Amino acid sequence: MRIIRAKDYKDMSRKAANIISAQVILKPDSVLGLATGSSPIGTYEQLVKWYEKGDLDFADVTTVNLDEYYGMKPENDQSYHYFMHDHFFDHVNIDPSRINLPNGMEPDEKKECARYDAVLRSVGDVDIQLLGIGRNGHIGFNEPDDCFAKGTHCVELTESTIEANKRFFASADDVPRQAYTMGVQTIMLARRIVLVVSGRDSRSASGHAFSAVPPINAILRHPESSSAPTAVRTASTFGIVTQSASPCVS
Ligand code: F6R
Repeated sequence: MRIIRAKDYKDMSRKAANIISAQVILKPDSVLGLATGSSPIGTYEQLVKWYEKGDLDFADVTTVNLDEYYGMKPENDQSYHYFMHDHFFDHVNIDPSRINLPNGMEPDEKKECARYDAVLRSVGDVDIQLLGIGRNGHIGFNEPDDCFAKGTHCVELTESTIEANKRFFASADDVPRQAYTMGVQTIMLARRIVLVVSGRDSRSASGHAFSAVPPINAILRHPESSSAPTAVRTASTFGIVTQSASPCVS
């Protein structure tokens, strides 16, 4: 993983957006793996600004999101569907038929996990996966003790994740107890990973990032693009870290 120190949240967001925009310019039909949470909001804002300036075109881009709360309606403003439309999809020219997220309203876990895994297979390789990291080191909703061999699965959220996410809800009781998440195995198949880490948790989160704590240790092992000639070989995983707080965190 190549660690890039950013001076503040804005700088972190611009650096992440730069990598994603280069990807979209070089390969207009890229598959982008996307995350929610406060860490990537500034990245989406920057991408929207460049789109509005005419520098970016998302018409041929396909997206796959990491996760969605179980039992959450897409129109609920706490759903990850809502988040993605609010911060990104509604502001760029992405084709709605190329937007993919787990369906939190499917009660049959087996059916939904199989459906989403089939979607992930059908879109092909993820060119860039954008990630945040939870306070306890979770990636997507893959909690630290999760089994990394899995594809999409339904998880029971840990108390620490419920505690961390309650800031977005009226109270901790309103935070869903389960979520659908892409598995670490699938995340590891992305060609490139951009991990954005910011705010008061950055010290502990990047502590996780530099230690052997799973699942982040799996991300650290993400392979370098060794098939390219040395002169053009670049890191396949970028950790963009700032200790400045995200303005989006209450
Ligand atoms: C969201 C997700 C989560 C967040 C993590 C960090 O789709 O997958 O793993 O990335 O909880 O959240 P923030 O960015 O709010 O600190």
